Amino acid sequence: MISIRRMEEQDLEQVLQIEHATFPNPWRRSFFLSDIHRPDGLCIVAENENRVVGYLVAWGRVEVHIANIAVAAEWRNQGVGTELMRRALEFAAGQQAESVFLEVRVSNLGAQRFYRRFGFVPTYVRRGYYENGEDALIMELALLHE
Ligand SMILES: CC(C)(COP(=O)(O)OP(=O)(O)OC[C@H]1O[C@@H](n2cnc3c(N)ncnc32)[C@H](O)[C@@H]1OP(=O)(O)O)[C@@H](O)C(=O)NCCC(=O)NCCS
Repeated sequence: MISIRRMEEQDLEQVLQIEHATFPNPWRRSFFLSDIHRPDGLCIVAENENRVVGYLVAWGRVEVHIANIAVAAEWRNQGVGTELMRRALEFAAGQQAESVFLEVRVSNLGAQRFYRRFGFVPTYVRRGYYENGEDALIMELALLHE
């Protein structure tokens, strides 16, 4: 059973394990630490039986930036990422954001498909964004308010 809650400092060891296993250029502990305390931020973990199985970091008001999302490899394709993203979109809607955006490697087709399911569309390419020179695809979701 998965539950979603705020990220806390004592989660960082497990968060960093997933981060290092997932990304070639992982975030440092200090990045997560400052985001935990950001007033305009959303920093959440997905937990199963007291183990962190995924996390999401977002911030911003009018434009919300999904800065980081990852799910532990053995927990992918089971709806954890969807639940984290659902919370991020609730956060954006709650503060009347106009849009949500993120960067994704042009080669990361699985993540791009995942984002499209929520309505994100590619808007432009940021050349050489990643440490290995790879381009980032910027994907954006416009939020409509009555
Ligand atoms: C991208 C990522 C966060 C998605 O998280 P996830 O937990 O695997 O996502 P979900 O399980 O919610 O959805 C993934 C797929 O599983 C399917 N799925 C969702 N719930 C499911 C369930 N209960 N059972 C089986 N499949 C399910 C979805 O239909 C989705 O299909 P898609 O491939 O067509 O998008 C995760 O794969 C990940 O950490 N990848 C590596 C890191 C990464 O690329 N991060 C993004 C960098 S920009």
